Amino acid sequence: MSGGISDYTQYIVDLRRHMWLSGVPTELRRLIWQVATTGKYISAKIQESNRKLAGLQNIYHEEQLALDRSSDEILVAQLANTGLVREYLSEEREAPIKLGTGTEKYIITADPLDGSSLVETNLTIGTIIGIHKKEPLGSTGRKTLCGALYILYGPLITMVYSAGKGSHEFVLNREGEYVLSQANIQLKEKGSIYSLGGLRKDWLSGHAAFANSLEEQGYKLRYSGGLVPDLNQILIKQGGIFSYPQLRSNPRGKLRLLFELQPMAFLFEGAGGAATNGEKDILDIKVDHLDQCAPIYIGSKHEVALAKQHTARGKA
Ligand code: F6P
Repeated sequence: MSGGISDYTQYIVDLRRHMWLSGVPTELRRLIWQVATTGKYISAKIQESNRKLAGLQNIYHEEQLALDRSSDEILVAQLANTGLVREYLSEEREAPIKLGTGTEKYIITADPLDGSSLVETNLTIGTIIGIHKKEPLGSTGRKTLCGALYILYGPLITMVYSAGKGSHEFVLNREGEYVLSQANIQLKEKGSIYSLGGLRKDWLSGHAAFANSLEEQGYKLRYSGGLVPDLNQILIKQGGIFSYPQLRSNPRGKLRLLFELQPMAFLFEGAGGAATNGEKDILDIKVDHLDQCAPIYIGSKHEVALAKQHTARGKA
């Protein structure tokens, strides 16, 4: 019989099985599974949130929802339980915190609830995680990252992870399991959507010329103001470009290297894409401090190369 439930379940590959079949090392498998599971609790918090601002300010002086704090605390509690994490660096904290005895294998970076100001308007938000095997401060993502993932809280909860062997998408099903929806996502050489942050009047001439060129070629604008959904769209549509560029008012751009850009660059490279600040690959930029920001162009290789040409020409 075809199309029956047994045919369906036969082909379900859950997260643990997928990681095992892909040869992800045991401890990294456990850690990724635990972090992905945390997404269920964070999503429950989002659901029950009364959307009131906590009146607190985070270290970047943005408005912070109580939800940011609770997501961060949920992550810490879950990670401490694994016995696999020696240090936790979060966008919500001013300094790294130690977990465990200091001999554990991994260091985690987290943006527990990226785009949380969008909760009020019921837009999609996400959690971004970097998994490092070495101290990330003072080094580059290329040398320290061994895994990354994001969780997207939309009409469906989805999760994309990479442990260095491709980037894969999972959907949380009604039974609370992450089931594989797309293995080995592959970006096309060139896409058809673009997503550019920052005010036009603040853009440098090279970036403005890049935007014009995309518009003349008929690229469609897709920008929600949430990094996770905006990048997820490019990944799942298998092409396009996202940028939060250098701004006249802010030469380092807005997005944080350690918490937002490195994990996303790892996932996009894993899917055959690229990520640069206009000159250097995001994964080759040294992290000097926790709240370091960088401009970013991330997506299909063609658009990233085009961005580099334009930004090199117009730095004023
Ligand atoms: O860093 C937080 C964030 O909300 C990202 O998720 C998003 O890409 C960006 O800021 C949006 O910035 P703006 O509101 O300036 O478009």
